[in-house]
Amino acid sequence: MKIRFDDRVVIVTGAGGGLGRSHALAFAARGARVVVNDLGVSTLGEGGSATPAQKVVDEIIAAGGEAVANYDSVLDGEKIVQTALDNFGRIDILINNAGILRDKSFHKMTEEDWDLVYNVHVKGAFKLTHAAWPHLRDQEYGRIVFTSSASGLYGNFGQANYSMAKLGLHGLAQTLALEGRAKNILVNSIAPVAGSRMTETIMPADVVAKLKPEYVSPLVLWLASEANRDNSGGVFEVGAGYMAKLRWERTRGIAFGLANGISVEDVARHWDRITDFENATHPASGQEAMMDMFANLACN
Ligand SMILES: NC(=O)c1ccc[n+]([C@@H]2O[C@H](COP(=O)([O-])OP(=O)(O)OC[C@H]3O[C@@H](n4cnc5c(N)ncnc54)[C@H](O)[C@@H]3O)[C@@H](O)[C@H]2O)c1
Repeated sequence: MKIRFDDRVVIVTGAGGGLGRSHALAFAARGARVVVNDLGVSTLGEGGSATPAQKVVDEIIAAGGEAVANYDSVLDGEKIVQTALDNFGRIDILINNAGILRDKSFHKMTEEDWDLVYNVHVKGAFKLTHAAWPHLRDQEYGRIVFTSSASGLYGNFGQANYSMAKLGLHGLAQTLALEGRAKNILVNSIAPVAGSRMTETIMPADVVAKLKPEYVSPLVLWLASEANRDNSGGVFEVGAGYMAKLRWERTRGIAFGLANGISVEDVARHWDRITDFENATHPASGQEAMMDMFANLACN
C-alpha cells in the first residue's frame, strides 16, 4: 500500500529547517500541498527572516511539488490557516513543530524565559489548532501531530520551561483525541530525537550528522495519513531509526479500608506495595483509572 497525500493540505510549523523542513519535503514528495510556516528566528526565538521558509518552498517546487511559504509566528495561528485556505482552499493536516529553547537551571530562569517557551510551544500550537479545528470538524477529517519531547516525558536538567511546555502539548493532544474522534480527527504526539541546530550545541558533530530528521518524518506521515484510521491520543518516541509507543503504567496499588480513616503511618507501612510495579496495570482512560477508586468506595 503506497501512502499518498494527493488533494490533502498540510501545515507544517517551524518548517524552515531541521525536523519541520524534513516533514514538509516528505509530505510534498507524496503529493500534499504544503504550507511551509517559519518565522525564521534563532533557537532562542530572536530575530526573524522569510528566508528559511522560502528556501524550503523553493526546494519543494524544484522537486515538482506544491507549497507556499508563510512567515507568521505560530502565535498568529489564524493567519497560517488563512494562508492554507487562500492558496489551497482547505486544510487537512497540522504538524505543530515550531519551537525555541531558553535553557537555564530553574534558579536562574526568569519569568520571561518561562513565558517565551510557553508562548511558542503551547500557546502557538493552541492558536493554530484552534483556528483550524472548525474546518476539520466541518469536513469530518483531520490529522494533527504535536511535537513533544523526552524532556517533557522524563524531565531534563536546565529545561523546566521546555519540559512543562512539551508535556503540556501531549496533555492537549490527549484531550483533542477524545474530542476529535467522532469527527474523524486523529491527534497524536511525537517525542523526536534528531540532529538539528537545536541539538548541535549539546551533541558531538558526528552524532548530529548521523541523527537525520528524515528518520523521524515517516512516523509523522503515517500518523497524519488516511491509512491511519484509529491511532489517536498516542505518544511515540522516534529517532535514529527507532520508533516506539509509550503508555502510562500504574502499580496495582493498595485500597485501604475507610472505616477508621487513613493515617500517614498506613502509607509508610504499605509503601512497598504502593510502589511495587509487579503485575502493573496500564489504564488507558481517566474513567478506567478511577475504577479502582470507585470499587473501593463501593466495598467500604
Ligand atoms: N531535534 C531534537 O532532537 C528534538 C527533540 C525533542 C523535540 N524537538 C522539537 O522538535 C521541533 C523542531 O525542532 P528542530 O530540532 O528541528 O529545531 P529547529 O530550530 O531547526 O526548528 C525549529 C523551527 O521553528 C521556528 N520557529 C521558532 N519560533 C517560531 C514561531 N513563533 N513561529 C513560527 N516558527 C517558529 C524556527 O525558526 C525554526 O526554524 C521543536 O518543537 C523542538 O522542540 C526536537
